[in-house]
Amino acid sequence: MQSMVIKNLSFAYAGGKLILQDIDIAVEAGEFVCLLGQSGCGKSTFLRLLAGLERPTVGELLLDGEPIRGASLDRGVVFQDYGLFPWMTAGENIMLALEQRFPGEDRRRLKATALKGLAEVGLDESVYGKFPKELSGGMKQRCAIARAFAINPSVLLMDEPFGALDAVTRAHLQDLVLTLWSQTEPKKTVFFVTHDVDEALLLASRIFVLGQSPSHIIYECALPADRRPTRETQFENPDILRLRHTLIREINKDVSARIS
Ligand SMILES: Nc1ncnc2c1ncn2[C@@H]1O[C@H](COP(=O)(O)OP(=O)(O)OP(=O)(O)O)[C@@H](O)[C@H]1O
Ligand SMILES: [Mg+2]
Repeated sequence: MQSMVIKNLSFAYAGGKLILQDIDIAVEAGEFVCLLGQSGCGKSTFLRLLAGLERPTVGELLLDGEPIRGASLDRGVVFQDYGLFPWMTAGENIMLALEQRFPGEDRRRLKATALKGLAEVGLDESVYGKFPKELSGGMKQRCAIARAFAINPSVLLMDEPFGALDAVTRAHLQDLVLTLWSQTEPKKTVFFVTHDVDEALLLASRIFVLGQSPSHIIYECALPADRRPTRETQFENPDILRLRHTLIREINKDVSARIS
């Protein structure tokens, strides 16, 4: 089980201004962490650092005590824009990840894993041979989730995965990810980026709010299993409603402080 420790992290793109400043986070293995923040505050940049696609300008990122030095298939990523290769079918997209993750494994077994992954996200076998352009946004996102879970990483990085979907599809996929997360043992550590407070309240066991440039943690809270709302109780539980107001106030306070 891998814990993630982010120590004194600051980051600037080459020649640019500071995007992230003085971020300290320690996450236990198996936590579902939501990162909340307004557009442009650096959420995707933060996930890119966790994925190993960028290196910290200052500070350290440690996974189970070891510095993150580059990309690894032990950290699965679901991108803002699905991240499926358009020239490959849905099945080939999943197979490519599986072949990299399990080199030398029998192709028929990998195909069975890919089909099982598609079934788990509610897609039938016919989707295996379809190209991304033949699929709806929700189906593409289901494929991206199937691919991320199929390679069975210990850490899952999800960047506003449902941002482009309608409310009903979004609700289905939120439930799907929660089910996959809670039923997989050992539990994956999830970093889930969103700007939607209600989505964070529904999914997270811990929430961090990122402020604006340079971005740092302006608020954090934990939602232990016995405190977490369901879709039914989300707008009834007074504690959750109070927390919802606090989160909205914290995000807006920081934004309005910068506008004024
Ligand atoms: N490759 C890059 N090179 C230079 N600057 C970048 C790069 N990628 C992002 N930025 C800048 O870093 C800042 C943070 O961008 P980032 O994409 O991390 O924000 P975000 O919080 O994910 O926004 P959104 O909610 O709109 O997706 C922005 O000012 C952006 O212009
Ligand atoms: Mg982003």
